[in-house]
Amino acid sequence: MAGNGRAEAWTSTLRAQQSAMDLGADLGPADPSAYTARKEIPEPMPTDRHGPARIIAMANQKGGVGKTTTTINLGAALAEYGRKVLLVDFDPQGALSVGLGVNPHNLDLSVYNLLMQDDVTAEDVIIKTDVAGLHLMPANIDLSAAEIQLVNEVAREMALARVLKTVRKEYDYILIDCQPSLGLLAINALTVAHGVLIPLECEFFSLRGVALLLDTIDKVRERLNFDLELEGILATMYDSRTTHCRQVLQRVVEAFGDKVYQTVITKTVKFPESTVAGAPITSLDPASSGARNYRQLAREVIAAEAARR
Ligand SMILES: Nc1ncnc2c1ncn2[C@@H]1O[C@H](COP(=O)(O)OP(=O)(O)OP(=O)(O)O)[C@@H](O)[C@H]1O
Ligand SMILES: [Mg+2]
Repeated sequence: MAGNGRAEAWTSTLRAQQSAMDLGADLGPADPSAYTARKEIPEPMPTDRHGPARIIAMANQKGGVGKTTTTINLGAALAEYGRKVLLVDFDPQGALSVGLGVNPHNLDLSVYNLLMQDDVTAEDVIIKTDVAGLHLMPANIDLSAAEIQLVNEVAREMALARVLKTVRKEYDYILIDCQPSLGLLAINALTVAHGVLIPLECEFFSLRGVALLLDTIDKVRERLNFDLELEGILATMYDSRTTHCRQVLQRVVEAFGDKVYQTVITKTVKFPESTVAGAPITSLDPASSGARNYRQLAREVIAAEAARR
């Protein structure tokens, strides 16, 4: 089955760009000149009407690239701009929940119950966070059982879509934090999403994983979600002091062009610290570079959506 033309184009283009990247020993110049400001990012318009949400999945099967950090802080930044945001923890490790100060072990109900039990509603599970307009659908280790239990269900790839259908109208954005694998949970996230945001660590090996991720995205687009778009590629953990980081960023921008967000997330110990504190960096240290990075990313995400309309 073929998807529509527009949908088909982006993964093939991205795949060609990825394979054209010379990943030999020499990474080339370390001057991210390709990375000077490319276009102005407008201030978001205030909004008093909410929904239906754009659903964005944070996906990369590589671990520790900033999926959870991006979910929390992009979510908090979007909420600062007056958007109503639901964050979905879709990783049995519950890192997103922990990062928002929720202890996954103490949950009576989590996204697992919502997926598996008909008598549990989204309202029963969703928790308000300390950030106004930012809500959380938490998860814990129970979710790992869902991956197995769903296998025998009808429309097993649509379980999350079924759950989010009831709440989509109440939010402007729903961000799904995927686990580092390309299993059934990730497929569920990609099936319900309008866009996939790929965090890419500014590190050599992260460039290789993109091809595998594209294979999975292609399968989902061919069989389940024809219109799945690329929300964008986000360079994370960028340290301008290291030549290696600058080389990798240069390569990423050369290869993927304007699919890469202008915003680059700098590497700072403030992120691990904010996880321990259980709050987004935008609340904990509003003036920090990390907070500014994620606010700019939020403006890009909002501007991209405005341009799509
Ligand atoms: N820009 C950054 N600078 C420094 N540390 C960061 C940055 N972004 C994330 N981290 C830290 O790196 C670690 C991994 O980040 P994170 O948990 O967001 O990645 P992930 O992709 O969700 O990982 P996993 O695949 O295990 O779910 C965390 O300790 C986090 O605090
Ligand atoms: Mg994570």
